[in-house]
Amino acid sequence: MTPPDSTPSSSDSSASGAGGERKRILTGVRPTGALHLGHYVGALENWIRLQREYECFFLIADYQVSDYADDFDRVRESVWEVALDWLAVGLDPNNSHYTIESLVPEHAELTTWLGWWTPLGMLERNPTLKSEMADLEARGSVPVAFFNYPLMQVANILMPKAHLVPVGDDQLPHIEMTREIARRFNRKFDREVFPEPDALVGRVARLVGTDGDAKMSKSRNNAIFLKDDEDTVNQKVRGMFTDPTRLRATDPGHVEGNPVFIYHDAFNPDTDEVNDLKERYVAGKVGDVEVKQKLAKAINAFLDPIRERRRYFESHPEEVRAALERGSTYSREVAQATMADVRDAMQTNYLAR
Ligand code: TRP
Repeated sequence: MTPPDSTPSSSDSSASGAGGERKRILTGVRPTGALHLGHYVGALENWIRLQREYECFFLIADYQVSDYADDFDRVRESVWEVALDWLAVGLDPNNSHYTIESLVPEHAELTTWLGWWTPLGMLERNPTLKSEMADLEARGSVPVAFFNYPLMQVANILMPKAHLVPVGDDQLPHIEMTREIARRFNRKFDREVFPEPDALVGRVARLVGTDGDAKMSKSRNNAIFLKDDEDTVNQKVRGMFTDPTRLRATDPGHVEGNPVFIYHDAFNPDTDEVNDLKERYVAGKVGDVEVKQKLAKAINAFLDPIRERRRYFESHPEEVRAALERGSTYSREVAQATMADVRDAMQTNYLAR
């Protein structure tokens, strides 16, 4: 039995280097739980689309979850969950490299060296890190390793000398930092060791949560997961926030900024249906119930093939394991080659005199 078909990708000739070899993507997630719809439209969709034109490294960043230090079971579980989600959405592990970060300890080594040219202020000013640390501090304390994670992300990206980093928009400060650090390193050693990578943000940069909160996230309990079954989706959509100013179905409603319509735009391919619902909503001629029923149907249709592939891989764990093992082994070879370049640039061959 072979896995169900994955989504085909478009072709784009800009991804080939001078020698015809593919340019590289490195991107990833932290293993903190299963992936949700926000991950899909914010980033995953781009990964799926670009996986044939670029040589892709998909990283599970298990060094970077020190905020879960007291819940390592969750980290262990999540490494597997993320791999299953990636396989389910159609990231082809035979044409890309699924990588577990800690199986490539060179990431830690490069982070250490890069820290030499990274002023504390660069991390302190990073707006994403700042707000995450504020959240953590409010709940307890911030581990040293957490403060350092954006620098390790820089090392992740520079390790395969990636050209492109498709991510959610909260990650943009980290990509900017990567460019800055690559530039500093190259200038310092007067050679092009690292390319300056570009960021690429998805179709919906930041999907609102089902509660209308600014961001869908597991910790806010406002997420619809890629692995949610039909009943769970129906129930979550039924409970979604809509237009708070609208009390009756006959009141004229607001479409703009309304989570239910943001999701319709993102996941309902039937634009005629969506436009009709919007018109009637504004005119006070449709109730939330109908809008939500149609939304739940669209999301379930979107998730069905993903669920089917997930079921396949859940019952073939040996394929999941092989993907992680093969990708990590390959990534380690690439990492060792890069570290040889780094040592060469830095001339750390202390014994050779
Ligand atoms: N920090 C990213 C996140 O929280 C995950 C990540 C780790 C990453 N290393 C990366 C993303 C390298 C892109 C490239 O989502």
